[in-house]
Amino acid sequence: MKRVPFFHSIAVYSFLGIIVMPVWLLHASSMLTSFKPGKDWMDVDGKKIDCHAGNIVFQEETGTFFWFGEHRGSPAGASCYSSQDLYNWKYRGVALNTGATEGLKGGFIERPKVAYNKKTKKYVMWFHYETSGYGLAHQGVAVCDSAPGPYKFLEHFRPNGNQSRDIGMFSDENGKTYIGYAANRGTSINADIRMVELSEDYLTVTKNDVVTNAHCEGPGVLKWNNKYYLLTSQCKGWTPNPATYYTASEVCATYTDKGSPCIGDTKNTTFDSQPGFIFKIPGYTNGFLYMGDRWNGGGSTNSQYVFLPIIMTSAGKMELRWHNEWKYEDIFTPTPVYERSISDFSTHIYVNAVNNGTLHGYDLLGRDIPYLYQNGTDRTVMNLNRGRMNAALSKGMYLIR
Ligand code: DGJ
Repeated sequence: MKRVPFFHSIAVYSFLGIIVMPVWLLHASSMLTSFKPGKDWMDVDGKKIDCHAGNIVFQEETGTFFWFGEHRGSPAGASCYSSQDLYNWKYRGVALNTGATEGLKGGFIERPKVAYNKKTKKYVMWFHYETSGYGLAHQGVAVCDSAPGPYKFLEHFRPNGNQSRDIGMFSDENGKTYIGYAANRGTSINADIRMVELSEDYLTVTKNDVVTNAHCEGPGVLKWNNKYYLLTSQCKGWTPNPATYYTASEVCATYTDKGSPCIGDTKNTTFDSQPGFIFKIPGYTNGFLYMGDRWNGGGSTNSQYVFLPIIMTSAGKMELRWHNEWKYEDIFTPTPVYERSISDFSTHIYVNAVNNGTLHGYDLLGRDIPYLYQNGTDRTVMNLNRGRMNAALSKGMYLIR
């Protein structure tokens, strides 16, 4: 490793830190550093997070995570939160306001999911659109140029004529995105789970729509060793119940039942939760985040979140275990540096000055990016955006890869 001068005075360093650091980062003492499943989860302004049964999207250019979900407080609709680390979330407002949107008034939204389309550069939201009695069984779609919204509602309909209630979403590495949905077989509610491929622009469904005879809800999908894993709950309204996972060699396929992924789940209720989504944490080869909801008998603003690590075993099994508290940095395996591209580093870098005068850079997810720095007697954190990162690189700072 070569010693490279970068910022030569701690004064300059601190100044830059202050101007680029989000205000809430200054309240470092209240920052969260772990997940606490089932506990009340406050946003960075100290309010309970209201974002249920949704999903997370990672915005590569800014290193920002956006979390979408049901906003069960007022106004009803789909809420959006943003974060740099998956633990500390800032409320960004209601991205789709049901009561204020022509075409959605009189109904409600459940399980919103957002995907970013790299070709059209649009964020596309899909959701279950319903009216009282759950007889409408539609999917809805909305679109926006920016992640937090407000989203423009486009339409709601039954995909390929099928009733559709709980939905999940999965984006494959090739950019194709799919909706998993609880569908009917005849009059039997949610008797099947279907997987439908979206059009290239994600704005509508294709005819590639395959059924699996499985009476379930709450679908979440992950890909591991070229196999697709579909995780679901049973159908018991707002009551937690056992989970089942299924596998297939293609996303749109008939899936095979593999049983429960839960280990040590004494009540057999997915640790008192219902699956909502599986988020693949960037920067980790096996970073699968189970995002579940603890509805407590009814969907309310007070429902808690049960976020747990999904472990994929070498034998190809999916495993879910309880943790009172956990950090993804401690559990998952970082993607080896040589497999990362420069763009993995060029968004936000945390620079941590330690007492021995050596600086280490950490990227957003706390992964060590070791480079040397000649100054620094204080421990502090600085958030560099892409522009500053490029400036830093042009001044001789470099990343050892
Ligand atoms: C279970 C579903 O998973 C929820 O999204 C919601 O639709 C409730 N049923 C309604 O009872």
